[in-house]
Amino acid sequence: MLHCLAVALESDLGAMLMEFHEVDQRLRIDREERMHDSARANRELVRNLAHEIKNPLGGIRGAAQLLEAELESPELREYTQVMIKEADRLQKLVDRLLAPHRPARPTEHVNMHEVCERVRMIVLAEYPQGLVIHRDYDASLPELVADKEQLIQALLNLVRNAAQALNGSGVIRLRTRIARHVVIARIRHKLALELHVIDNGPGIPSGLLDRIFFPLVSGREGGSGLGLPLAQTFVEQHGGLIECESRPGLTDFRMLLPLL
Ligand SMILES: Nc1ncnc2c1ncn2[C@@H]1O[C@H](COP(=O)(O)OP(=O)(O)OP(=O)(O)O)[C@@H](O)[C@H]1O
Ligand SMILES: [Mg+2]
Repeated sequence: MLHCLAVALESDLGAMLMEFHEVDQRLRIDREERMHDSARANRELVRNLAHEIKNPLGGIRGAAQLLEAELESPELREYTQVMIKEADRLQKLVDRLLAPHRPARPTEHVNMHEVCERVRMIVLAEYPQGLVIHRDYDASLPELVADKEQLIQALLNLVRNAAQALNGSGVIRLRTRIARHVVIARIRHKLALELHVIDNGPGIPSGLLDRIFFPLVSGREGGSGLGLPLAQTFVEQHGGLIECESRPGLTDFRMLLPLL
């Protein structure tokens, strides 16, 4: 198939630049946009559902407590204890589902390499043996106006996932670059910051790959499936996007953040 091609023509009448893009690329972008739209709709749905669960949950817990106070027999109180504990567990999940929606406060000039370094230190402290995190930074990267805490959280979720997939033993690469003329959510940007988190782990099973940015989707024992949707929400609040490509031995999460 035809690859992206730029041809400069010069004649007596002046100069002309012609660009050809392959059809495959257009189709890929359309498919990715559809996927991101449906992930976004899914996150919204889960958030609304979480709102609906939150209020009655408080009522159920309160009623169980009142009931417990009336009960004489310790055996029966075991049942109310189950109700209270399960309500608390659900409450924590609901809180996590609702938490990401603090709007971003992009007020600081942020050096992305400081964000990378912070995340690198945290994850290396969590996996002190067997994990290597390589740095491949483009020193000419400009600062961006952003909400630093949200970017740290977003990147931490990606790097932590990689470390978990590697079982704490393997190589993660953090690569920063400048990307030119990128389209994010149908908006064309002249300049964007590109940050890759690449690991050499087992990869994401193909059946899961299309759904990893949906909430509550997890392929990990004990995972809650909230890390990636949260990271995507934070990056989208900065006008950016996270994409993923994966095969056994190479998983590449690419975070794009517009600069201009
Ligand atoms: N680098 C990676 N390599 C292999 N699989 C991955 C990688 N990153 C994510 N995944 C898969 O995507 C799933 C979803 O990730 P996500 O961070 O949303 O949830 P989680 O890690 O399962 O739980 P949580 O982050 O909420 O604790 C993971 O469970 C895992 O199966
Ligand atoms: Mg995770």
